Amino acid sequence: MNYRHAFHAGNFADLVKHAALLRLLAELTRPGPPLTVIDTHAGRGLYDLAGPEARKSGEAEAGILQLMRTKGAPAEFQSLIRTVAALNEGGEVTRYPGSPWLIAQALRATDKYVACELRPDEHDALRVVLRGRQNVRTLCADGYAAAVAECPPKGRVLVLIDPPFEKPDDYTRIVDTLAALRRRNRDAQALVWLPIKDLETLDACLRDLEDSVGAPMTAVETRIRPLTDPMKMNGCALVLIGCPDLDAGLGVISSWVAQSLGVGGVARVYPLSPQ
Ligand SMILES: C[S@@+](CC[C@H](N)C(=O)[O-])C[C@H]1O[C@@H](n2cnc3c(N)ncnc32)[C@H](O)[C@@H]1O
Repeated sequence: MNYRHAFHAGNFADLVKHAALLRLLAELTRPGPPLTVIDTHAGRGLYDLAGPEARKSGEAEAGILQLMRTKGAPAEFQSLIRTVAALNEGGEVTRYPGSPWLIAQALRATDKYVACELRPDEHDALRVVLRGRQNVRTLCADGYAAAVAECPPKGRVLVLIDPPFEKPDDYTRIVDTLAALRRRNRDAQALVWLPIKDLETLDACLRDLEDSVGAPMTAVETRIRPLTDPMKMNGCALVLIGCPDLDAGLGVISSWVAQSLGVGGVARVYPLSPQ
């Protein structure tokens, strides 16, 4: 396992994922029954943008730092902008929140959060970041297996699946995990992040989801450049499973990233058709 999210924290793909996650959590934490959130690939929770990894990649500079400098960014980014500004006490932006930080902050006292991270060093850092939070547990464990084991058979649950795609079986494990989650809890909701390198790989994954996961699904494609080089991450996709209709807001998030952070970018929001 060589992947370190510190190289990529705050890049264009994090902005799409984290703005969409905050939008979804705002919807799911309106007054109502408790919610359990399971984060299968949590990472370390908080990232140092002044550290060697972020400075070497330059990805945060082309992502969150550009968003923070933008006057009049769309309302759909304001929650993320406010969180990043507060984390940096209104000063220079050197710290960026990972999904654990965003989720833990958004949840109510009645909700629960389970954060899974397989790398022991990343998990140690995550435990420190989440220390003292009520109703939060971290597991140094395989997130796919843990998500199914930890999913309550009844009640409201949101599963975030955000793998590093270092291994070829991440695509099949995502599909199998979602099918197992929906068998365990027919109301389970999920947000999945996928890279876009070439369209064949993305399409194959979306077709497998349509064949295996019997739930309404929406795909959000954000391409930051034409797909001419399949060795590059040319964009990212989100798939929302069984979630409320947030298409308009997700379209704004995706379009802003494709147009403002990309060159020749494309944004699309469309429904998938379960078989
Ligand atoms: C893309 S990063 C997660 C970023 C995080 N979700 C966020 O938005 O801030 C993926 C993480 O998954 C971890 N990981 C890799 N395989 C895993 C597995 N099978 N189960 C749990 N974590 C895993 C990696 O060590 C890495 O920290």
